[in-house]
Amino acid sequence: MRFSSRGQVDPFIVMDVMEAARAAEAAGRHIIHMEVGQPSTPAPAAARAALAAALERDALGYTVALGLPALRQGIAALYQRWYGLDLDPARVIVTSGSSGAFLLAFAALFDADDRVALGEPGYPSYRQILRALSLTPVGIATRPQDRYQPRAQDIPDDVAGLIVASPGNPSGTMLGRQPLAELIHAAQTRAISFVSDEIYHGLHYEARAVSALEISDDLYVINSFSKYFSMTGWRVGWMVVPEGHIRTVERLAQNMFICPPHASQIAALAALDCIDELEANRAVYAENRQLMLDGLPKAGFTEIAPPRWRLLHLCRYRASRPGCARLRRRDPGRGRGRGHAGA
Ligand SMILES: Cc1ncc(COP(=O)(O)O)c(C=O)c1O
Repeated sequence: MRFSSRGQVDPFIVMDVMEAARAAEAAGRHIIHMEVGQPSTPAPAAARAALAAALERDALGYTVALGLPALRQGIAALYQRWYGLDLDPARVIVTSGSSGAFLLAFAALFDADDRVALGEPGYPSYRQILRALSLTPVGIATRPQDRYQPRAQDIPDDVAGLIVASPGNPSGTMLGRQPLAELIHAAQTRAISFVSDEIYHGLHYEARAVSALEISDDLYVINSFSKYFSMTGWRVGWMVVPEGHIRTVERLAQNMFICPPHASQIAALAALDCIDELEANRAVYAENRQLMLDGLPKAGFTEIAPPRWRLLHLCRYRASRPGCARLRRRDPGRGRGRGHAGA
């Protein structure tokens, strides 16, 4: 049997590291896990309790494709709480993590062979998901003086879409309201679809992040319960789309996923109300962040962009480190020199 060429994507190196760590642990090695970007805390207590109760009373069959109506309402209310926005719950689409949202968004917005721009360094899976859908990722080289975020004047000529992440991964840097608005307006003037990855919203330590929805309704915003809500393994996220796109995305979601995991939706709904516990988590991250900011320079890491949002730091990364070389040997010629490996 032949392979499709679009199926030949690069590995997500952080997941290969996770597997290597699992194998080493199974062989009896003691591993300190630092490979994936995830909280060490579980889902909030009330979320776990809500699911435990639901398991006793409910068959937890399929839900409707766009997600439980109460959850869509709860997410819309979060936009009021976080940004003062009045969001129609009908525009909220519950997804299987933000990763599931990218599939739906790219399938809804782009045709095969379309070119889609993204800032580099960036979250590596954007490229691979695009390639798996026969789309062409077009990297925009970002600069330290722009805090590793793309500028409006950097958007290439012939692209159908632009993906922006604020806070970004791996940089941790955020786009202020003005540069974000400039990017959105530049894209919209040229009929370029704008996709805003806002998965780290809520985890800020200075000013809060600006949502692209505060600037325009004519774009896609993607978010997740993975990070702020401490629910990585539950695979539940969401997407906000323009009103005219709801039915197209619904048809895609019905066919691609049927629905997001029911059990995770129940827990996510309860997690929306766990503000005290989630804010206590954030206070611990803030302490950890300070420890890192104080300790890394003493350990010889000098080129650090203080992140406004999470624990990780953009230090100089060398793709030739021995561990990376070992992983590269599993897929020779892949994933070279992109400068970032992780979730
Ligand atoms: C910027 C960014 N977007 C998306 C994801 C995927 O998150 P999930 O599918 O768990 O929602 C990650 C994971 O770390 C990320 O860093």
